[in-house]
Amino acid sequence: MNAHPIAVFDSGLGGLTVLRALRGRLPHEDFFYFADTRFLPYGDKPESFLRERGVRIAEALVARGAKALVIACNTATAAAAEAIRAAIGVPVVALEPGVKPAAALSRSGTLGVLATTRTLHSERFQRLVGHHAPGVEVVAQACPGLAEAIENDGPDSPRVGALLDAYVAPLAAAGADVVVLGCTHYPWVAAAIARRMPVGTTLLDTGEAVARQLERLLVHGGLLGGGHGRLQLSTSGAPQAVQCTVDRLWDEKSTVDHWEP
Ligand code: DGL
Repeated sequence: MNAHPIAVFDSGLGGLTVLRALRGRLPHEDFFYFADTRFLPYGDKPESFLRERGVRIAEALVARGAKALVIACNTATAAAAEAIRAAIGVPVVALEPGVKPAAALSRSGTLGVLATTRTLHSERFQRLVGHHAPGVEVVAQACPGLAEAIENDGPDSPRVGALLDAYVAPLAAAGADVVVLGCTHYPWVAAAIARRMPVGTTLLDTGEAVARQLERLLVHGGLLGGGHGRLQLSTSGAPQAVQCTVDRLWDEKSTVDHWEP
């Protein structure tokens, strides 16, 4: 089992921002990354759809031999993490917007959260804010269209720029001094978000925390591997199109193949 890969999935290529942190911390592990591009974006899909899809993907990844699973998507976590944990027998690491560390860091008492509509409307997010940010003003900004624009038009495209102008302005206007990147696609545009906020604003993503948690679970389960750091990338969408986006975003040459869970 130790030599088996760790599976990571997202609606698309946002989860690569998490994968980068996982591979940095665990360079000897092999990873299998699945982008569910056929259903990108997850952010506007009904919760019941995301739950069923998440469980189906998780079961198929375990059937492929995954020794652990990372849900590298805040939206899928909000909708499906509990159902996935109940359905499969390998360790699962899920991620959620870093509201807790953000509340601890904020000096202005106002923090901003950028995430998908589905994540912000979830019970899980409401609970997170209720438990970890009492007394803090949380400006939660949904960003419809942003994840797709990052993938389809590119992080530096005019379309992404226009969406960021609209979505970041309310956080700056409210005086947020910490911005939570509550969708794994958004670290691809972290610099562009920072440029739209006052100097000194802290941006938080959860990649490093997820990597530490995965390492703890592997150590605890006796599952650490001594592999070669191999990476396999698959998509439920059109591999050629996804390949072009990977080549633009990812600094390592990796081939994308088609896989349907
Ligand atoms: N990357 C995903 C997340 O972390 C969602 C993007 C989408 O498919 O809407 O929430």
